[in-house]
Amino acid sequence: MKLETVLLKEKLNRNDLTYLLNLEKEEELEKLFARAYEVKSEYIGKKVYYRGLIEFSNKCIKNCFYCGIRRDNGEVERFDMTEEQVIEQAKWAYENNYGSLALQSGERQDADYIQFVDNILEKVKELSGGKLGITLSLGEQSYETYKRWYDLGAHRYLLRIESSNKDIYSKLHPEDELHSFEKRVECLKMLKEIGYQVGTGVMIGLPGQTVEDLADDILFYEKMDIDMIGMGPYIPHDDTPMGRGIADSKEESDRKFKLGLKMIAVARIYLKDVNIAATTALQAINPLGREKGLKAGANILMPIITVDEHRAKYQLYNNKPCIDDNADKCKNCLAGRVTSVGDEIMYGEWGDSPHYYKKKG
Ligand code: 5AD
Ligand code: SF4
Repeated sequence: MKLETVLLKEKLNRNDLTYLLNLEKEEELEKLFARAYEVKSEYIGKKVYYRGLIEFSNKCIKNCFYCGIRRDNGEVERFDMTEEQVIEQAKWAYENNYGSLALQSGERQDADYIQFVDNILEKVKELSGGKLGITLSLGEQSYETYKRWYDLGAHRYLLRIESSNKDIYSKLHPEDELHSFEKRVECLKMLKEIGYQVGTGVMIGLPGQTVEDLADDILFYEKMDIDMIGMGPYIPHDDTPMGRGIADSKEESDRKFKLGLKMIAVARIYLKDVNIAATTALQAINPLGREKGLKAGANILMPIITVDEHRAKYQLYNNKPCIDDNADKCKNCLAGRVTSVGDEIMYGEWGDSPHYYKKKG
């Protein structure tokens, strides 16, 4: 009865986390996911919040070894959405009652780019009378830039740590100033200080990553007082140094998928009141990925609303789902998926992380 005892412990320790992440038997996994869903129901409700995801540019100054839109990948056709296109998509999200937007792009730090984001923030606030929530996922920036965007109305920021293990991090990135682990941690601290709800996350199933590393990732979320978590399986991309010539076998991708679900469940049980996304990467390796993510304790979905013509060019990994769909189709498809789980879509609400408000008192 060890499993039941651990699942009901007031506070899990590192050994408990690794024990849970190591579970393999079907009936044990069911108990784990059921407990995580119970914790989600208690702290969040059986609810799902949407962040309409606009990937507005795939240009990037960085060269992360795993990512399909890295700077040195000459195979990608680069694009920028125009301001009008972004605003049109934002309007669509607002009119379809999505509650919140997530703006994502490759990383850039130049003045034109910062100005572009400034303009979008102003216009989104204007078009929705301040009602559309805004999450940014625009990489590492200076304190001034983060602050500027916060003052313009962005209130959540996602910046993944990718792995909290420094050795693994250094194998994922070139060794230079632009890709420093310390800088990434510093950015997460700045975002907190400014007042953002801060999200981070890791890739799961990275080469050399152990279950202990993943337990440490969850402890890192706690230590950094993280409000939102977005994590998903690592999926090799052909045109990258890490993924070239590597396609996961069915067994390997099933293993990563299961590990991804376990990470969601264990993070939910341990951290309780944070927002956790069921990510598109989960669905990339299993058609029922997002539903299963919700059943394992996730409460956030990020439907892609990037304009149709650019979707296929924002391929961070192979097999990205929904690149042939359009926003309307995605809306219906997702609504069906959420209802099938027994959750309710909270249309028109921001769905802030309860963790953030608990701290603020
Ligand atoms: N597999 C899985 N996730 C990836 N990302 C980038 N490349 C991959 C990949 N090959 C994730 C990273 C990044 C986010 C935007 O996409 O975690 O932070
Ligand atoms: Fe650029 Fe982000 Fe991809 Fe790294 S993970 S190459 S920063 S888009």
